[in-house]
Amino acid sequence: MNIFITDGYDEMAETAVDILIDSIETNRFLKLGLPTGKTPEGVYKLLARAHKNCGVDFSKLTTFNLDEYVGLDINHPQSYNRFMKENLFSKINIPEKNYHLPNGCAKDLEEECLRYEKLIRESGGIDIQLLGIGGNGHIGFNEPSTCFSRGTHKVKLTKETIASNAEKFFDGDIDRVPKEAITMGIKSILDAKKIILIASGIEKAKVIEALVNKPITSRIPATILQRHANVILIIDKAAASLI
Ligand code: F6R
Repeated sequence: MNIFITDGYDEMAETAVDILIDSIETNRFLKLGLPTGKTPEGVYKLLARAHKNCGVDFSKLTTFNLDEYVGLDINHPQSYNRFMKENLFSKINIPEKNYHLPNGCAKDLEEECLRYEKLIRESGGIDIQLLGIGGNGHIGFNEPSTCFSRGTHKVKLTKETIASNAEKFFDGDIDRVPKEAITMGIKSILDAKKIILIASGIEKAKVIEALVNKPITSRIPATILQRHANVILIIDKAAASLI
């Protein structure tokens, strides 16, 4: 695991974006896996700026998001689809047909999980998977006790994740947060050729310490990243403070 420790959030985002842009300029047909959440917002802002100010070309890029809530329409203000459009896709020149998220409103969710997994596989697989990390160690929505061998599947969110997302995106109203989601599984994530995990702030320090130092356990799903040969952690000083 390569670890970059940055002064703060802004430098964390800049470091990740430097790697991403370099990779996109080397391979315009890059397949990129993407998270939502507070942590990547700065990354998406800088990617949008790189397009606007420096003409970085995203027209051949293909993206796959990690997850989507079950039951939220793609235009719902808190859907991940909407989040991605507002934060990134509407601000760069990626064609609509090139970005993908699971459909949390599909009639048959099991079928949708299989479709999504197949889509990723048939694209040739993800070259770089960008990840955030939950305070409980989840990556994507793979919550504690997840099974490491699964591809895209439906999950029940833990109370902790629901509370954290309520706080960040639903004005603190737990009742409005969907209780289920579709997520790429740990297997789908580990299939990526390279993984970049970003984290910022003292509230991530404990889980980052576990990710780096503790034995692999499904109780802290992110520890499985120790088994991947090409992982880069880009974390700020606060998130790194317990390593
Ligand atoms: C969301 C996702 C989650 C988040 C995690 C951290 O697509 O995959 O695993 O990365 O919950 O969220 P933030 O960045 O809001 O702390």
